[in-house]
Amino acid sequence: MSVRRLAEDQVQPVNFAFNEANAAWAEKTIQKYPEGRQQSAVIPLLMRAQEQDGWVTRACIEQIADMLDMPYIRVLEVATFYTQFQLKPVGTRAHIQVCGTTPCMLRGSEALMDVCRHKIHHDPLTPNAEGTLSWEEVECQGACVNAPMVIIFKDAYEDLTPERLEEIIDAFEAGKGDTITPGPQIDRHFSVPEGGLTSLTEEIKLVRTNLEAPAAAPAEPKADTAQVPPSNAAKPKTDAPETDPKLKTPLTAPKAAEENVKAAEKEATGVETKTEKPSLDDKNRPAAVAKPETPDDLKLISGVGPKIESILHDIGIFTFAQVAGWKKAEQEWVDGYLNFKGRIVRDDWVRQAEALAKGGEAEYIKVFGKKPR
Ligand code: FES
Repeated sequence: MSVRRLAEDQVQPVNFAFNEANAAWAEKTIQKYPEGRQQSAVIPLLMRAQEQDGWVTRACIEQIADMLDMPYIRVLEVATFYTQFQLKPVGTRAHIQVCGTTPCMLRGSEALMDVCRHKIHHDPLTPNAEGTLSWEEVECQGACVNAPMVIIFKDAYEDLTPERLEEIIDAFEAGKGDTITPGPQIDRHFSVPEGGLTSLTEEIKLVRTNLEAPAAAPAEPKADTAQVPPSNAAKPKTDAPETDPKLKTPLTAPKAAEENVKAAEKEATGVETKTEKPSLDDKNRPAAVAKPETPDDLKLISGVGPKIESILHDIGIFTFAQVAGWKKAEQEWVDGYLNFKGRIVRDDWVRQAEALAKGGEAEYIKVFGKKPR
């Protein structure tokens, strides 16, 4: 449980002022709210102040209270309630907020805090010697299904292992935090199960059926009460596909609905319909080799886990040297085959493999400044 207090007097600046651009933005923001409701701007203004100065000072709280015509205590209550507001100076490159609530705790958040203690500072809310990194424990951040997780500034990094958190911290420390994609850090999309959907597959079929109906079947002419045909009268012939009377939808799937179906599946499941894997006969498929007696441990490449390693083996990739030799088109082929959406390039598999092929772990440490995972 976090204790939220203002920083000691010694570190509190005497004054606070928005810079010119932020002052203009604050004025506009306050005007968005109806007369008498300007206090609703308190959270956006506090956030902007924090983005400007790195943390929320007492002077800032008082200034914003004056701007919104609020008692100081009301703004103080907001600033001390939400852990998104930093009440002391924090790391300039990253402030790591580790969720320590039950689901994250059961999934290993204590080990993540150990990483922070070891890499940043033993104590929470205490920046490292360079002032670039700090950390703290926070309560549930609403991503329990992807536990354990951390928040860094406005982004969540989920499904973490201690090793992955170390890599993330290193990237931020090196000023390369933007190279890490927020969200799940394993092979899954948002919160869907690893390996794809396991439930609600029936609902997807239903969405498909309903979507296809209007695209294929022209609307029946409106019945004119004076000209209702007898029930045994022959129906006028149309080009519409035959319709299943139970479902009231055409039996033939029109191609035109395909895009809508994909969109609906995405909406219903949160998962984009996987594009087709590139063909194994494609000219850009990297050359396969026979399994050597001692294959390289491809899992040393960051981004390759046991599942991905076994898929790589299936397509004849067993050595670092093979991966190191991939050209752009070959990387794209493998990326498409694994449905990785650019991760191979982002994680720089080729450079990692080059180092590992050249001199194993020692060379990797020389090039990347850390051990391979
Ligand atoms: S318990 Fe950690 S995000 Fe909910």
